Amino acid sequence: MEEVKVDLGVRSYQIKVGEDLLKDIGTYLTELEIGSKVLIITNDLVDSLYGQEVKDSLKEVGFTVEVAKIGDGEKYKSLETAQQLYDQAVVAGLDRSSSILALGGGVVGDIAGFIAATYMRGVNFIQVPTTLLAQVDSSVGGKVAVNHAAGKNLIGDFYQPQLVVADINVLSTLEEKELKAGLAEVIKYGVIWDEEFFTFLEDNYKEILTLEPQQVQHLIKVSCQIKAAVVAQDETERGLRAILNYGHTLGHALEAVTDYQYYRHGEGVAIGMLGAAKLAHQIGWLDKADVIRQQRLIENFGLPTSFSQWSVDEICQALTKDKKVEDGVIRFILAKEIGEVEIIADLEENLIKEVTQELKVGDEK
Ligand SMILES: NC(=O)c1ccc[n+]([C@@H]2O[C@H](COP(=O)([O-])OP(=O)(O)OC[C@H]3O[C@@H](n4cnc5c(N)ncnc54)[C@H](O)[C@@H]3O)[C@@H](O)[C@H]2O)c1
Ligand SMILES: [Zn+2]
Repeated sequence: MEEVKVDLGVRSYQIKVGEDLLKDIGTYLTELEIGSKVLIITNDLVDSLYGQEVKDSLKEVGFTVEVAKIGDGEKYKSLETAQQLYDQAVVAGLDRSSSILALGGGVVGDIAGFIAATYMRGVNFIQVPTTLLAQVDSSVGGKVAVNHAAGKNLIGDFYQPQLVVADINVLSTLEEKELKAGLAEVIKYGVIWDEEFFTFLEDNYKEILTLEPQQVQHLIKVSCQIKAAVVAQDETERGLRAILNYGHTLGHALEAVTDYQYYRHGEGVAIGMLGAAKLAHQIGWLDKADVIRQQRLIENFGLPTSFSQWSVDEICQALTKDKKVEDGVIRFILAKEIGEVEIIADLEENLIKEVTQELKVGDEK
């Protein structure tokens, strides 16, 4: 097992990464200063796969365990679901010493964290992420939220967990497209922070796709280390933390024009990363060879690097409507080299359009 510390003063916590950790969750929780009651928030699918093991482990060391299940899918990350969860927390008799344990992907983690942050002004929160995306990204860093009709993650807070337990065995039941979507965020970490890690991904992509434990454990550990390092410097996204949005500017626009129905988030990010690489090359930052390296790695992980059916104009319009746009300025995270990025706010619209057009196949111009 590997441990990564997220260094946030009194809000610091450990991320445990390794094989077969679910059976020891109870023991890990006894090491925290928390009361005897735990409410597990999960969904039917994850509960049927891993719920029993987690419940048994908690009960074995004396915790009282309740389970609340939410629907499966982004649309259940809502205030209506939150309302039902508050009701269940009340019925379960949760008090301020109690804990909420998120067992699931990013949807479960985000809403469970939102409940933990707000129920009785905050109860203990433990993340047990079960998708790759949740293990390398959403369970770390304390962003918790529900969606609103007007936008994703519009209602939320920063609320750090007290512990994150990433058991790599659970990835074996994950659908392949979910695994790949998570890998987009992993590539992102290499580009924004760590060339050596990027090279590791290039050299080990086959082992990663077949879930070789050694490679997967390393990948999750380093991803969490990078996210932890960024979050430790800028917990509430006043500056640096924005670099975690590498590839997300165009990625979000692609998700938006397709009504969030066509792409997994990671697929949008994959195309967005190549767009960002091309933009960086256009302004003289990134070598052509490093653009190609990114393209190749994205492709090797089975992620898209182009689109065909959507309108470039619509995508560019969607860019200006993104919630990350402040004062009408579109920000891109662009690489100077692999491992180093900067935030840039004054790119010419024509250039953005040109590069978006380049990402569109079968539409010669
Ligand atoms: N808080 C953050 O910092 C942050 C960062 C990135 C994304 N997010 C959020 O994360 C969410 C997306 O998370 P996600 O990609 O994990 O999607 P998800 O939670 O919808 O999970 C994807 C699917 O995998 C299933 N699943 C989960 N674990 C499984 C397992 N071990 N085996 C088989 N199936 C399993 C789920 O039931 C679901 O059907 C979005 O709501 C996004 O906004 C949050
Ligand atoms: Zn993302």
